[in-house]
Amino acid sequence: MTFRIAPSILSANFAKLGEEVANVIAAGADWIHFDVMDNHYVPNLTIGPLVCEAIRPVTEAPIDVHLMVKPVDRIIPDFAKAGANIITFHPEASEHIDRSLALIKESGCRAGLVFNPGTPLHYLDHVMDKLDVILLMSVNPGFGGQKFIPETLNKLRAVRKRIDASGGDIRLEVDGGVKVDNIAEIARAGADTFVAGSAVYGAGKDTDPHRYDTVIGALRAELAKG
Ligand code: DX5
Ligand code: ZN
Repeated sequence: MTFRIAPSILSANFAKLGEEVANVIAAGADWIHFDVMDNHYVPNLTIGPLVCEAIRPVTEAPIDVHLMVKPVDRIIPDFAKAGANIITFHPEASEHIDRSLALIKESGCRAGLVFNPGTPLHYLDHVMDKLDVILLMSVNPGFGGQKFIPETLNKLRAVRKRIDASGGDIRLEVDGGVKVDNIAEIARAGADTFVAGSAVYGAGKDTDPHRYDTVIGALRAELAKG
């Protein structure tokens, strides 16, 4: 299993965003997780395609755009043009899930569905062949720094079975409350891609320049324990 670590820039210092992106990748992170909130689908407002475009030249690492917006479709081509590599959305925020997935693929990006803690998995039923990523929220979306909801482990096991049965090349990503002390257990439940916002950016904030190699190394060491 190849694990991926995806720091969420939601917890970065936005006054130095370019450096914050470059520094986590230099410290060994794999993807940049980019949380888009619209103050409508979720009760918070963050960043859009302009910011994606601004950080694109800073790194070659995949930019993993997590759309917490409603409607979904209108903004997809804008993120693709801004350099996104992966675009995921919440199925209940889209009127036409299959169409939104197709739009992401036609835009040249990898596509995924995101499940809130209370969102049933039946949305997977007829679209497994269209998915590159399944993202399980382990907190309710809207804010960084929340506590991991343990029921997510059961949901991860269920999705892992479905992915293995499908034979597809689909990453199983988890988002919310992932820390050094729980990442190994989350991996054992089947996740292979780990968003970590406050765990990564919180750990580096007291050093100047911000350094993230210690925390990313610690996350990887936990994953290596198996
Ligand atoms: C929450 C976002 C997460 C968040 C994770 O709605 O989707 O990506 O930044 O933050 P932590 O790792 O602090 O829970
Ligand atoms: Zn996210």
